[in-house]
Parts: sequence; C-alpha cells; structure tokens
Amino acid sequence: TVFTRRTLLKTAAAAGVAGVGASTIGRLAGFAAVPDPVVLKTTSIQAQLMDGAPTKNVLTYGEAGPPPVVRMRKGEPFAARLVNGIDDPTTIHWHGIRVPNKMDGVPFLVQPYVYQGDHFDYAFTPPDAGTFWYHPHCNTLEQMGHGLTGVIVVENPNDPQCDSEAVINLRDWRLGDDGQFIEPFRPRDAARAGTYGTVRTANWLDQPQYDAPAGGLVRLRAAITDVTRIYAFRVDGAEAAVIALDGNPVPQRFAPDALQLGPGQRLELAIRMPDDEGAIVSLRDVRGTKSKVLATLRAVGKSLKRDLRDLGPLEANPVAEVDLAGAKRIPLALSATAENVSANSICGSLGYSFWAINKVPWPGDTPDPTAPLAELKLGQSYIIDMENLTPHSHPIHLHGMSFKVLSSSTRQVQPLISDTYLIQPDEKVQMGLVADNPGDWLLHCHIIEHQKTGMTSYLRVV
Ligand code: C2O
Ligand code: CU
Repeated sequence: TVFTRRTLLKTAAAAGVAGVGASTIGRLAGFAAVPDPVVLKTTSIQAQLMDGAPTKNVLTYGEAGPPPVVRMRKGEPFAARLVNGIDDPTTIHWHGIRVPNKMDGVPFLVQPYVYQGDHFDYAFTPPDAGTFWYHPHCNTLEQMGHGLTGVIVVENPNDPQCDSEAVINLRDWRLGDDGQFIEPFRPRDAARAGTYGTVRTANWLDQPQYDAPAGGLVRLRAAITDVTRIYAFRVDGAEAAVIALDGNPVPQRFAPDALQLGPGQRLELAIRMPDDEGAIVSLRDVRGTKSKVLATLRAVGKSLKRDLRDLGPLEANPVAEVDLAGAKRIPLALSATAENVSANSICGSLGYSFWAINKVPWPGDTPDPTAPLAELKLGQSYIIDMENLTPHSHPIHLHGMSFKVLSSSTRQVQPLISDTYLIQPDEKVQMGLVADNPGDWLLHCHIIEHQKTGMTSYLRVV
C-alpha cells in the first residue's frame, strides 16, 4: 500500500482516533500543558430571527442562541473540542489565526471530516491578538448560511484598555415570509455579486442596543460573517476611530467614513461615547442607497470624560517583515469562467463553475485537489500580484499566513497586515508575505458562492 497523506487521514478517521493528536503530542514533547478544551458542539435548534414563527433548522455551536464568542490570549495555548451533533460532516476553520496546518480545518487538504457523533480536538497557540472568527469548512454555504459563524477575541493584556467592549457578529439569513429557510443561492446571482440574505442581523438580533458608560471609550469589534454581503461602515452620534482591521492594528487611525469591508473581514473601532446619559450612537451600513442601522450603543451613567486621543497604540503582532528586495513574485488573476471543469464538489456541491483563479476553477473541497497555485519556500519572501479581471468585488482570504498590503493600482492603501483583501473590479494589488508557516494553505473568495463555484486555490509552503 502506498500511504499518501490522504489515505492516512481517512484511516485515522475510520479508526475514530482523529482527535487524539495535538494535546498528547504536546505533552510528550514537554510543551506547556494544554488547557481544558472549550467544547463547541454543532446542534440544530429553533431561533427567533424575525417576527412571527421561529426559524427551524438553525445551526449553532452550543445549546441555544448564537455561537459563543470564543476568547483566547495571545501567546497562550488554546484547545477546543469540536463535537458534531448534526447530520452532516463538519470541521472548524479559525479564520485569520496563524495556526499549524493540521489545525486549519480544511477537509481533504489538512484534516478528515468529522462525522455526526464524532469529535476532533483542536489545539494551538494564537500568535496574534485581535478579532478573528470561526466557521466550518464543509458544505459551507449551507452550514454557515444556517448559523455556524462565531467571533473570536484574542486578548492582549498589554493593550491599552477601553471602558467597555462590544462584540458584534454581522450576518444575514435567507428566510421566507414564514420565517423558514429558502434556497441558499440563485445561480444567476452566484455568477454575479452573490445571493443576498433577506433578514439582516447583529448577534442574531435586529438592531440590538448595548449600554456603554457615558463619556467612556468603547472597543467595538465587528466581524462580517455573512456569506455574501459587503458593508460600508459609518458611526453616527459619536467620535470613532478605526484602530484595527482583520486582527491587526492599523498604522494610522482614521474615521470609519463608509469604510468598505467584505465577508470574512473584521473592524475594530474605538468609540468615545457622548457625555449625555441616554444618547444613542449607531453603527451603520451605508453601502448602496439605503443606510441601515446595524446596532446601537446607549450612554449610561455620569460622564467618564475620556478622550479618544488618550488611547495609546495597540501592540503590533509578530508578523515577519517582508524582504522586498529579495521577494519572488506570484501572479494571481481572478476571472470568470465558462468552463464546467470541477463543478462536482463532494462537500456541498453547488453544481456550477463560474469563477477561476489563474484560469483554474476549483471549489476547494474535493478529495483530489488541483495543483497548488504556487510552491513557496519556507522562510522566503513573496509578493502576490493579484488582479481582478471581473466586474465584481471579491474578499480574497489566505489561510495560515498574514500578508501586508503594499500597493494598489486604484487607491491609496495603508500598509495593512491582513488575511482578507477586498479587491475591487479592475484593481491590481500587491501583497507581501513571508512563507513562514509550512503546509497547504487555502486561498479563496469569501463570498461563499464564488468560492464554491471555482474561486479557490491554495499555496503550498515547503
Ligand atoms: Cu473564513 Cu477558508 O475561510
Ligand atoms: Cu468573489
């Protein structure tokens, strides 16, 4: 028998030993003890997502309500046990966290399916502080569309402290008038900007309101976990500054004046609450013609009289500096395709192929992956030359490594460190990275219909 990695993965799954790995090995190797795992059990529940009848077949981690906010600490070991309580294989991907490849949650590429009744133990030490999120990487349109998207906060005790914190999970639901799920996508929309939800929520609620100390500083963390929607953020009723994006501090703070972010991206704001008790601050999406209130903050108590400028800089994450002079180039072209090559994804096939990366359409989760987009040498610097040849925007996400946005053909960019870049139509962008994490790392559009109809590839670091 030839033991390819894939047959090994399948064997491990069949023997039911898929989960024993990381923590045991960690202990044998004398690493710091792994803490008790956070249990994340997928369950099917009913939830009140709009007026009228509760929605059936909503999926969550836990027993009721939205998936919990998972908290970790920068540089400290973290462990989670995924228990699959639903009748569909699943995994967890820790979006934006630079985990070891085996912990990345992509079926076939790095781990076996976790079937109903089975579990998988994840263990890693998050190197970076910031706002991240978690979701399955199996049958994603269905599983994420039905609720399996949660926010992660990686704390850094060295960061300057605000007076309060708000964590907001932004997403939509495709529900009919009767409150029940309708078809998850329409092919004609999948071939365009994607199929939008019909009910918009923040933390599974319609415009929730949270109390915050009057005159105080709020650290607001918002994650776009929707499968389709691009947002343009604005804050009304208070002074606000963007302090971090996609888990990394911004080099220069700025007001969120219609700042566009796409699925997979995270916004961190410092908001200075008004002095008057009862005053309302609103976080809005102003994309398109209508402005929509997503969530509000209400000032309570006597003013703390804080100043936004008092908030010191956040500590930078330990992301390796790109060697621009010695960097090799990786061309990456996003295009539409008419080919019907790998339309058959076994992990939640949509049955269509509309998109391609460097002319190859791949849904990203077939047992026999296409060749990697590029093979990268461990430790070497690279510049990805990404070009959008389509008339739509695409939030392109890279697993396992952070990149630095270097330049764009269409706009001034800050040298942001990120894992997801929202590329506009006809834009060309340069992204630098150091290939410092070995393994196969998925790279795909986070508009899930685009991902699953071809806009997926991966980088191999050896
Ligand atoms: Cu947020 Cu490949 O995923
Ligand atoms: Cu896309």
